[in-house]
Amino acid sequence: MVSSISCPNFGAAYLRRNFVAISNNIPGPVESGTDVASARGIVNSLRDLTVQTVSELYVKYQDDLCAVRDQQRTFLRQRGRSMKAQLDDYEAEITYLLLREYRPETVVEIGTFYGWSTMWILSALRDNGVGHLYSFDIVDHVVSNVPADLSAHRWTFTKGDVRETLGDIPGSADYLFIDADHGARFGRWYVENVFPMVRPGTPTSVHDVFHGRRPKPISEGSVLMKWLVAQNKSFFTPSAAKAPEVIEHLSKVKKELRLDTPVRESRHNPMVFFTLG
Ligand SMILES: C[S@@+](CC[C@H](N)C(=O)[O-])C[C@H]1O[C@@H](n2cnc3c(N)ncnc32)[C@H](O)[C@@H]1O
Repeated sequence: MVSSISCPNFGAAYLRRNFVAISNNIPGPVESGTDVASARGIVNSLRDLTVQTVSELYVKYQDDLCAVRDQQRTFLRQRGRSMKAQLDDYEAEITYLLLREYRPETVVEIGTFYGWSTMWILSALRDNGVGHLYSFDIVDHVVSNVPADLSAHRWTFTKGDVRETLGDIPGSADYLFIDADHGARFGRWYVENVFPMVRPGTPTSVHDVFHGRRPKPISEGSVLMKWLVAQNKSFFTPSAAKAPEVIEHLSKVKKELRLDTPVRESRHNPMVFFTLG
């Protein structure tokens, strides 16, 4: 965990008191007043992921998340426009929180670009003290961008079209992150080739699905949604267009936790989270 002077340590009692105040209005499978300080295993499966469980993860990992948000904000400020960050704050933070809660040993990331998502993922593995990230992209801007203290001993990058480097994706993946080509053909490719490779129960997220209330008609997002429906699988999204009530609730939680200063200003959060297998 990186330390930061701007991240106050509220203490578990303070958090519990404040979180209960927020969560009293929210229906969900977890009772308000859950002992969040000892809530290991809050999310047993992404099938259970709700705004309530995500809120609890914000509370549980508040201090570490605050430090990572500072780290990322500082990195963006130092790099200026040469850093083309893509993930918005809620989807990046939820990715970090789920990685902390699941503690995966093998994470696969398809689509790194300049490494914004890579840094969020590697920060979670650093804070877990366990796990290795395997990243794939046609371009390798990420290699010079990701700080060495984050990547050392935790990261393997494979350059090339992932459809041609499929054999380098470890079958032991226990977290899958996809943010690459948003065309329908690419969506069909990974549904048919990558999804069957990973272990049942693998938490998975795909970016750029809900920029509107529905995915674009001929897109990766529409292929994915049809697949999820056919598999009878639910998903969670913090998309401002698809689920504005999620952002509305989480923004209150973040305000209580003093995590409300944006890292990035973009607020679309079009990512979906679900479980494979
Ligand atoms: C939206 S960017 C990823 C952004 C990154 N996740 C972030 O948070 O900043 C999409 C990336 O996917 C990569 N990509 C597109 N098609 C790909 C393919 N077939 N194989 C590997 N990478 C691909 C692109 O080169 C690009 O860097």
